[in-house]
Amino acid sequence: MNNNIILIGFMGCGKTTMGIRLSYKLRRQFLDTDKLIEKREGRSISEIFEAEGEEYFRRLETKILEELTESCSHQIISVGGGTPLREENRKLLRKLGKVIYLKVSPETVYQRLRGDRTRPLLQGDAPMKKIQELLEKRESLYEEAADVIITGDGKKQDEVLLEVLEVCR
Ligand code: S3P
Repeated sequence: MNNNIILIGFMGCGKTTMGIRLSYKLRRQFLDTDKLIEKREGRSISEIFEAEGEEYFRRLETKILEELTESCSHQIISVGGGTPLREENRKLLRKLGKVIYLKVSPETVYQRLRGDRTRPLLQGDAPMKKIQELLEKRESLYEEAADVIITGDGKKQDEVLLEVLEVCR
């Protein structure tokens, strides 16, 4: 166990916002694996999906996780919404540290991400249907990967932050 705190959950659940706030509170460095991938590739996630396809992106996610398990400790890490889908990634997440699943409903995701153009998987005419389908498929895997589950629906960001801080003690 590398002693990190890892935030997982669906797109729009608040991993990045929460990760940044946590890093201030706990005085730990914050890392976002999507950002690491974009930096390394020199292009956005959307561009990577468009040019190389999803599978290529998924391989990059696993590679980054492998590297982090070798090099990273005592940090706050946020991973992309699809990272816990691969079994090998779930193992790597566990190795990395304490995994916190920020759980939200499809309605919350829809409200938060309406009009967003940066998530290639949610583009198209029926984003709500897509969100529901993906969440249904992923829910049990998020739960399997998690040490702790924290629900965000109907809560203020500050409340969620307090709950997260509580389990980080
Ligand atoms: C994805 C989530 C995104 C990003 C990519 C794929 C997913 O990250 O990794 O668009 O499969 O759920 P966020 O969860 O940070 O939006």
